[in-house]
Amino acid sequence: METKLLAVDPLRPSPQAIAEAAEIIKAGGLVAFPTETVYGLAANALDAAAVARIFVAKGRPPQNPIIVHIADLAELAAVAAEWPPLAAKLEARFWPGPLTLVLKKHPQVPDIVTAGGPTVAVRMPSHPVALALIRASQAPLAAPSANVSTQISATRAEHVLRGLSGRIDLVLDAGPTAGGLESTVLDVTASPPRLLRPGLVAPAEIEAVIGPIAGVDRFAAGGVAAGGEEPVGPLRSPGMLARHYAPQVPLECLPQGDDWARIEDLRHDLRRLGWLALGPVNADASCGVLIIEMPTEPEAYAAQLYAALHALEAAEVERIIVTLPPAGDAWLAIRDRLRRASVAE
Ligand code: TXA
Ligand code: MG
Repeated sequence: METKLLAVDPLRPSPQAIAEAAEIIKAGGLVAFPTETVYGLAANALDAAAVARIFVAKGRPPQNPIIVHIADLAELAAVAAEWPPLAAKLEARFWPGPLTLVLKKHPQVPDIVTAGGPTVAVRMPSHPVALALIRASQAPLAAPSANVSTQISATRAEHVLRGLSGRIDLVLDAGPTAGGLESTVLDVTASPPRLLRPGLVAPAEIEAVIGPIAGVDRFAAGGVAAGGEEPVGPLRSPGMLARHYAPQVPLECLPQGDDWARIEDLRHDLRRLGWLALGPVNADASCGVLIIEMPTEPEAYAAQLYAALHALEAAEVERIIVTLPPAGDAWLAIRDRLRRASVAE
């Protein structure tokens, strides 16, 4: 299969391009498209055979459920069996936007979308191209991130093609995505609601709307990846897999201050080393280390993280050293992704 690349304006995508993509979705095909978080890989969520193609293209384990994307609240009735008052409050504050809500599933949602489980994850993205595609497809779209399973998510069309070229029908290229990290996933069938994956919406922002939520501590403590948790049976959340969002190069995270000593150590044995530094560094340019100076502000860091990892991977470095950003709510999702990227295969 040849993968077509179609450039679209991020704010005002041409109706012809959107119609072409929607025809592919209606015919059961796969379209990669931008959201405000990362690029997604879409199929008609109500077409089990089409969703099955997502699993094949990504090499995704069948026990990983997929997020369903809607463009209008009216579509909720087709995918969720219940809409709790808490969910309505969160919707009013955060949709469209990077918050995914886990809800009781509607019987017509195919089992393959939910990995056979009783819940469905739903979000309403804010990216104009995403909204236009959902509306033109006249169906909710099942869409995981547009990357090979466990590898780095895509924030640009070229990242999508690096992993999925030849395996999907079309990529809608609207340039880099603004957010750069995946949505926050919150299970609102639990009481209190439970954080399943930290993301672009911080826990404190959610708690400001609905009060205390569960599950934040274990991410803050870093226990998931550090403990190497391997869930058994249908996953509560595939983001909980220890190794995820990972480059195909070994990656080590070090606290600021320990980073340079480790690099000094490694560069005797390794020819090509990559370093995601935090803020400007004044290392000797001839030191043989490919240095990417990351922003010291979390939003800007998130927006650039995956592109930086893709760049180091493409440069074929033999090891990536990452200076860990500080602890704290604003860095929670970033530290979570870095920890998972550092788990050995
Ligand atoms: O920002 C995002 O969420 C992106 C864009 C494309 O929307 N999508 C994304 O999908 O990151 P994916 O497949 O890479 O991650 C899916 C996440 C899992 O980590 C899991 O937490 C959650 O969605 N998930 C999906 N269905 C679920 C369910 N029924 N119960 C619990 N978690 C679920
Ligand atoms: Mg993913």
